[in-house]
Amino acid sequence: MKVEFYRHALDQTDIDNVVKVLQSVFLTTGPVTSEFERRFSEYTGLPHVVALNSCTSAMQLALMGLGVGPNDEVITTAMTFIASATCIEHCGATPVLVDVDSSTGCIDPSAVEAAITARTKAILPVHLYGVMCDMRALKDIADRHGLFLIEDCAHCIEGERDGVRPGELSDAACYSFYATKNLSCGEGGAIATRNHELAKQVKLLSLHGMSKNAAGRYHGAYQHWDMLTLGWKCNLDDIHSALLLDQLSRLDALWGRRKAIFDRYEEAFGSAGIHRPCVKGKSAHHLYTIWVDPDRRDSLLHEIQSRGIGVAVNFRAIHLLTYFRETFAYKQSDFPMAERIGSSTVSLPLYPLMQEEEVDYVIKTVLELYFQQKGD
Ligand SMILES: Cc1ncc(COP(=O)(O)O)c(C=O)c1O
Repeated sequence: MKVEFYRHALDQTDIDNVVKVLQSVFLTTGPVTSEFERRFSEYTGLPHVVALNSCTSAMQLALMGLGVGPNDEVITTAMTFIASATCIEHCGATPVLVDVDSSTGCIDPSAVEAAITARTKAILPVHLYGVMCDMRALKDIADRHGLFLIEDCAHCIEGERDGVRPGELSDAACYSFYATKNLSCGEGGAIATRNHELAKQVKLLSLHGMSKNAAGRYHGAYQHWDMLTLGWKCNLDDIHSALLLDQLSRLDALWGRRKAIFDRYEEAFGSAGIHRPCVKGKSAHHLYTIWVDPDRRDSLLHEIQSRGIGVAVNFRAIHLLTYFRETFAYKQSDFPMAERIGSSTVSLPLYPLMQEEEVDYVIKTVLELYFQQKGD
């Protein structure tokens, strides 16, 4: 049997929606993107949404829109995808990495507080695998120190913890619609915020700093545009947005299917005594990972793969990657929890299209290889 690590859940309605755009006059950012922004705002409960070409752009523009720049520091986690830190550098600021909570892998609020200096401007927590960080604790720290809070929600559209949803306590929530994400159009992202001025600024920065986008220029009588600031090119076009519209109405049903698979994994791996991250609150169930002995992790990865099952590592601790070691002098033992997770984690397939027999096969194979390797 072959079980892919991920297969998207796009259906004929999504394809038809793209075809409609292709048959229309307008391909770039226009009415379909506006409609998606309106509906995503409804879903998140956040009044302002700007659709963008990635979560990386969303985080960079959110920070820039809040005035974060050279000489500033932004605190984020060592257990994440590199974009959570590189977006900070792309604003000219310095990423300051901290360690994580050993049970969830999410940023540790006490480590955040200990890393604050006179230069700290913002905190950028990452809702790892779909489990939200302790946003109440982070909001309290941000308020006491006068810091911005920008959430990396690449893994977490649907999550909730302690009665808090993404974007509720922060200045902005940044989402990814990358190929493997819970809501996907291949490449895409968005920022959602309660701050009207920030949304306006992000929109401006996302399109060369131009006062009007193409839809605004060519609607009715020709109108001149102005360049108001130095911007980037990060807008989301209508072709991509078309893929998101109907998918958004299926999002909760797709979550339900991932949750059912998650429950089966939890039951099987939990009763076998395999370590896994702990779920706090409602997870968005973006990724499923188990934690194994670091000495056996890589061989287990390859063994599982050789049985036809796709695997991944989310993530190796980023401070140990060459660039961060060389640029910021990070070294082994700086963040022991993130390092432990990074060297023991194995991500398994988790997506709505997985069939029951595929879930059975993953469980049976992983258990067999895990215990075989352990010598039990
Ligand atoms: C935690 C996290 N943050 C940010 C990103 C970047 O998302 P995008 O590819 O949309 O820029 C990813 C992508 O995988 C991610 O996993």
